Amino acid sequence: MSRHHLAIAAAAAAAALFLLSPCAGDPDDERCLTHLHQSLTDPSGGMRNWTKASFAAPCDGFFSHLQGVTCNNGRVYKLALPGLSLGGAIPPELSNCTNLQSLDLSANALSGAIPPELSALLNLAVLNLSANALSGAIPRELAACAYLNVIDLHANSLSGPIPDELGLLVRLSTLDVSDNRLSGPIPALLANRTGAAGAVRFNASSFAGNKGLYGYPLPPRRPRGLSVLAIVGIGLGSGLLSLVLSFAAVCLWLRATDRTASSATTPGEEGKVSHLMPEY
Ligand SMILES: *[C@@H]1O[C@H](CO)[C@@H](O)[C@H](O)[C@H]1NC(C)=O
Ligand SMILES: *[C@@H]1O[C@H](CO)[C@@H](O)[C@H](O)[C@H]1NC(C)=O
Ligand SMILES: *[C@@H]1O[C@H](CO)[C@@H](O)[C@H](O)[C@H]1NC(C)=O
Ligand SMILES: *[C@@H]1O[C@H](CO)[C@@H](O)[C@H](O)[C@H]1NC(C)=O
Ligand SMILES: *[C@@H]1O[C@H](CO)[C@@H](O)[C@H](O)[C@H]1NC(C)=O
Repeated sequence: MSRHHLAIAAAAAAAALFLLSPCAGDPDDERCLTHLHQSLTDPSGGMRNWTKASFAAPCDGFFSHLQGVTCNNGRVYKLALPGLSLGGAIPPELSNCTNLQSLDLSANALSGAIPPELSALLNLAVLNLSANALSGAIPRELAACAYLNVIDLHANSLSGPIPDELGLLVRLSTLDVSDNRLSGPIPALLANRTGAAGAVRFNASSFAGNKGLYGYPLPPRRPRGLSVLAIVGIGLGSGLLSLVLSFAAVCLWLRATDRTASSATTPGEEGKVSHLMPEY
């Protein structure tokens, strides 16, 4: 019978631990929030109530006292800190918020690269890092976030190609990488999505404002070297043409004067000429 009592006590202890755990917070979330707070500069004080003491227990059920944090079952579920003039870089430890479903750090002054470690956010559905000063490549690792619905990276300084792997994100319904410094061909899997039923096709506005990007739905590759050659060619050609034209004009004039000169000696005109000659 004491075994039963032990079992009941253990179950009660487990239940108590389970009930308490949301208050205790999650060590991964704590690491995530601590690093995020350390990495960002906050000149306008939008995150002033992000105090270190609260990182160990950021959630109160669905509620969080931290600006921009939304919780679900005691875990950080959404981070929304748009338009707060935040500077600094996105820390790789953001990936420790393993239950994160939505990350919006848009319209700030973030710089540095998008950490490939974000690929550990397996529940991520919304990624909005638009209107910052992020540079470097779009990490191909993001394709591991299979639930990604929204990728908005517009208005940054991202360079390099769009990873082909992003075309494998079957749930992707919004993609905006416009106004960056991306280059290379637009992956066919993104441009012509035919796989999943109702897959959204992305039009040119998703890709516009990247000088080096080409291919459907943007125009085909513009041979840049040739266009410079063409400009030089046009310059040289018009120079040559005017030279040829003036040469031809001179030739014609010379021939004309030559003809009038030689016509003076053509036999048929002799009389006329002699007629014109003064008589002695
Ligand atoms: C932190 O700031 C947010 C937004 O300004 C506010 O909703 C929240 O109540 C604040 N929390 C505390 C503990 O001051
Ligand atoms: C936290 O994130 C860092 C950087 O991505 C990673 O190296 C580390 O393994 C993560 N920690 C845990 C417990 O997942
Ligand atoms: C991303 O954030 C910007 C600025 O906060 C907003 O205008 C835009 O609509 C967001 N993108 C998506 C796809 O919701
Ligand atoms: C994508 O589809 C368009 C229009 O249907 C077509 O012109 C283009 O060649 C296709 N591109 C690729 C890479 O299949
Ligand atoms: C491109 O698609 C977006 C929605 O994804 C739509 O709002 C926009 O009007 C489209 N633009 C053109 C030129 O078709």
